[in-house]
Amino acid sequence: MKDVFARIIENKGPLGKWASQAEGYFIFPKLEGELGNRMKFNGKEVIVWSINDYLGLGNHPEIRKVDADAAKEYGMAYPMGARMMSGHTDLHEQLEQELAEFVDKESAYLLNFGYQGMVSTIDALVNKNDVIVYDVDAHACIIDGVRLHMGKRFTYKHNDVESLEKNLERATKMADLTGGGILVITEGVFGMRGEQGKLKEIVALKKKYDFRLFVDDAHGFGTLGKTGAGAGEEQGVQDQIDIYFGTFAKSMASIGAFIAGDKDIIQYLKYNLRSQMFAKSLPMPIVAGALKRLDMLRSMPELKNKLWENVNALQNGLKSRGFDIGTTQTCVTPVYLQGSIPEAMALVKDLRENYGVFCSIVVYPVIPKGLILLRMIPTSRHTMQDIEETLEAFSIIRDRLENGTYKRLSAAVTEAMGE
Ligand SMILES: Cc1ncc(COP(=O)(O)O)c(C=O)c1O
Repeated sequence: MKDVFARIIENKGPLGKWASQAEGYFIFPKLEGELGNRMKFNGKEVIVWSINDYLGLGNHPEIRKVDADAAKEYGMAYPMGARMMSGHTDLHEQLEQELAEFVDKESAYLLNFGYQGMVSTIDALVNKNDVIVYDVDAHACIIDGVRLHMGKRFTYKHNDVESLEKNLERATKMADLTGGGILVITEGVFGMRGEQGKLKEIVALKKKYDFRLFVDDAHGFGTLGKTGAGAGEEQGVQDQIDIYFGTFAKSMASIGAFIAGDKDIIQYLKYNLRSQMFAKSLPMPIVAGALKRLDMLRSMPELKNKLWENVNALQNGLKSRGFDIGTTQTCVTPVYLQGSIPEAMALVKDLRENYGVFCSIVVYPVIPKGLILLRMIPTSRHTMQDIEETLEAFSIIRDRLENGTYKRLSAAVTEAMGE
């Protein structure tokens, strides 16, 4: 027998094993100062490319005022209890109605957290006879929701409609045997690489196969589509999405999330969604703040226009300098480089310390060995100067990566970080 804690101390997990080298710098870095395009890191100003405040609402003076006023009026506690028991208010209902209208669905229901809400919604939608078919590169919240599923599940190759169809054939045979149905789950926008889920092609398969479609549109909500209603609107298939999920943690620059769909289905979920039934309701300042954010998202298209101006300038600038930005079709901007993990660390340190550019770094095992992914999130707050400075810095660090500077520096980096 082994002590649970002894095992944990021995094996710190895929990310935890990097803690001694990376904590406080690459993992759990502290960005300080007001939310925005330029913040402080380790006491120095940096251009920030790693926060999902797409529309720049996070530090907007009107938002700050509504948040503060609501906190003053209601405090952070009210309402107490789960929605079902004692945590229900007119404002929660109003927000749900407005969200449903905005994403063109009959009804919506609030979730305290996107991640937990997704897990719980998947759990509530299916029983052991049902079959789940989902994209192999789905976000952790989808994977973890599927883990709770007692029945069959199939993955299809990332954004590969042929593979989806093959799996729908298998799932149909399976569901015929069990007497269950099929739930297909994808993301509207894949948050790491920036591709849109192929919603149009997926819904076209509804003509041939019987399934319901659940779309996690965390990154699409507020950024895609004519009105900002997301990837479904962008691709003209919002009405074919059976359950739509959006979070407040990105474009809305807050916390919380929602699901939207047909009235009867949302009604069912209200009574069966364990993450909401057994958890305290969202506090009033979050709800009042979300109403204000939604209002601004709807009534200020200039925020989304500016966001896209920046996205285009950044992505075109990177492409014209020969950077590989993969297959992004959204604001999420990945830059792929070749190098080892120590080289990636030295490179990011150089970017932050010497060029004042702060972006997230993704390495193996999230992406294949030998690849470095610098993930950038443009926002409406960025300026052309931020973009120019960043492009310049990227050209320099690429040269250094290619001429072996970071190979030599990587040993020194680990040393400087107290190894
Ligand atoms: C695709 C996707 N789904 C769900 C979530 C979880 O949302 P939340 O931060 O509201 O828990 C995220 C956030 O990282 C996400 O990127």
